[in-house]
Amino acid sequence: MLGNTFGRLFRVTTCGESYGEALFTIVDGMPPGLKLTKEYVQAELDKRRPGQSKLDSPRLETDQVEIVSGMREGVSTGAPIGLLVYNVDRQDIHVDQYRQVKDLIRPGHAEYPFFVKYGEHADWCGAGRASGRETVGRVAGGAVAKMILEREGIDVISHIVESHGIKACPMEFEQIVANYRKNDLNCCDLEKAEEMIADLGKVREEGDTAGGVIEIIAQGVPAGLGEPVFDKLKATIASGLMGIGATTGLEFGRGFDTARMKGSEWNDAPYLDGEHVRFRTNNCGGFLGGMSNGEELRIRVAVKPTPTISVDQDSINVMEMKEAKLSAITRRDITILPRIYPVAEAMVRMAVLDALYMAKGYDYFCRLDPKWKKMGEPRNKA
Ligand SMILES: Cc1cc2nc3c(=O)[nH]c(=O)nc-3n(C[C@H](O)[C@H](O)[C@H](O)COP(=O)(O)O)c2cc1C
Repeated sequence: MLGNTFGRLFRVTTCGESYGEALFTIVDGMPPGLKLTKEYVQAELDKRRPGQSKLDSPRLETDQVEIVSGMREGVSTGAPIGLLVYNVDRQDIHVDQYRQVKDLIRPGHAEYPFFVKYGEHADWCGAGRASGRETVGRVAGGAVAKMILEREGIDVISHIVESHGIKACPMEFEQIVANYRKNDLNCCDLEKAEEMIADLGKVREEGDTAGGVIEIIAQGVPAGLGEPVFDKLKATIASGLMGIGATTGLEFGRGFDTARMKGSEWNDAPYLDGEHVRFRTNNCGGFLGGMSNGEELRIRVAVKPTPTISVDQDSINVMEMKEAKLSAITRRDITILPRIYPVAEAMVRMAVLDALYMAKGYDYFCRLDPKWKKMGEPRNKA
């Protein structure tokens, strides 16, 4: 299996499977002198942990993290940070449920390409590396990125904006912060959240699952992050978010609405705020030429319904090469929304930090007149 590392200068490598011994993350690019604690990383992991409400998989993983390298007496040394989380809920009864369907292609799951790539060696237990459990490592790595970004005044937050067709009202950053994680779904429109949660209760009774949309906002990102061609910040963020299982669509700023607008409506007009350049609107979601423009980044991700459902489905037994039926009985999230938003926060943090490391490195060699950097200082520092 290839491609288990994200980033170019700030790099996060993950390993571990759904029903393996543990999930392990190596973070390369930690500066020295930071007081990273287990509690700090744990707070991020606790947002993603299953079994917190009736919407989540009842799998009882405690997701307790240990920092096993890169620290001396509570302070980072600059060496790689190693983060270890053991899988503790791997009961035989659940392993046997997966064993019973191990030769079947489960609709909506990753099995078919896994069989083609890894044959009879493909990990059949709980989707292996394609499982939502793989994202533990991303969240752990993202917590390290969060600590470094805090020093730079960069804040990333995500919330649920749509569930099974029910939409929340658009909100400003401050409102989202005020209502963050106030309900099981982390929908900051508190009235709509109740409607969404009641609807998901009905979906669960039908043995079914539902999809939705999350939004991610980054504040304090300076202008000029990302490179103009293949390494656009927009492209790196897209790679990070689309690399998460169950993501099916991506919008930046006005996204697909853009297709129905005129240029005169869409273009964000620049204006002078003292010595700083600002934009009156943010239809572009904070990206121009794929690089940050100093306004807040606004990104939306479509999330598909959880593929495991309790409704009978057509399948194929790949060992016998015969059509078969699948009646799923394994544990699952009714909606992936409240599990995935912390993962999206982590990926955006890693992408922004990686771009920041690149920009700072390149800046050193450019040695431009400071006027240009001052002009691009972020909005919340202005
Ligand atoms: C945080 C998270 C939790 C997930 N939980 C479940 C789950 O409980 N049951 C399930 O069938 N799929 C779950 N998934 C989705 C599958 O991992 C994913 O849909 C599957 O591997 C197929 O990949 P694809 O959706 O990218 O095509 C979860 C994904 C994430 C990111």
